Amino acid sequence: MRSLIDIVDFSVEELDALIATACDIIDNPAKYSEKCKGKKLATLFFEPSTRTRLSFEAAMYELGGNVIGFSEAKSSSAAKGESVADTAKVISCYADIIAMRHPKEGAAYVAAKNATIPVINAGDGGHCHPTQTLADLLTIYREKGRFDNLTVGFCGDLKFGRTVHSLINALSRYTGIKIVLISPLELKLPSYVKKDVLEKNNITYVQTTDLEEVMPELDVLYMTRVQRERFFNEEDYLRLKDSYILEPSKLKNAKSDLCIMHPLPRVNEISVAIDDDPRACYFKQVLNGKYMRMALILKLLEEAAK
Ligand code: NCD
Repeated sequence: MRSLIDIVDFSVEELDALIATACDIIDNPAKYSEKCKGKKLATLFFEPSTRTRLSFEAAMYELGGNVIGFSEAKSSSAAKGESVADTAKVISCYADIIAMRHPKEGAAYVAAKNATIPVINAGDGGHCHPTQTLADLLTIYREKGRFDNLTVGFCGDLKFGRTVHSLINALSRYTGIKIVLISPLELKLPSYVKKDVLEKNNITYVQTTDLEEVMPELDVLYMTRVQRERFFNEEDYLRLKDSYILEPSKLKNAKSDLCIMHPLPRVNEISVAIDDDPRACYFKQVLNGKYMRMALILKLLEEAAK
């Protein structure tokens, strides 16, 4: 059974095909409005979410399908001690496809091992978040028209930011990519991502604490929230939470066609004064996420039917 647990579960060609489907959905929504008639998506969210859960739901409704699910662990049998493996087996009896978010790394993998229907990882702890990456890739494609030869800066919480880990994985398969890692020393990209992804793929990367210094070279700036829920103590969070705040003055040396992204939710990392700047792409990213989730649901259901 085909699932999406990690972005590298899909080849570059498969991601290109998803982007093509998403673009076709944007141009011809009516063509897709009944494609999932009679099908059910189960959204199993053991961790808070606005965009990811609602965009999965909107995606399924726009495909003519239905949605069941829960939005917090305490309203599910997890509160009684049910294992992820058992939940996956049970939901396989009710639905055709699962989208699951869980605070533990590897939870979606366990679900996929036990489910008899496709499982989509909607975020597993600080590990990865492949469907946010689908949203990010469509955004980069629509804004820049390419993935090769881009300098992409990641700024903020690169340690716990699962969207960062997944997007770096995806971009590492293209040529001429340069990654600029901007974070406080305590929130640097985990060494497993550096070794297993960047170094293994011979990707040029630099690490810095200074956003303004690297700003002029960036084609894409991916801002992130400091992930409060993954900190072990509140003091560290309070000390680090406002390490980077993108304000208009910080963009004075930025490229005129810089693409500013953020998976959202934003806390303080991007001043609202940036929202009207044509380079701000984070709300476009939200919409792109829905189209890519539609393309993904279609692909996985088609493969499951084979
Ligand atoms: C991200 C996540 O859940 O990892 N949000 C999202 O899905 N768009 C980023 C975050 O929570 O900071």
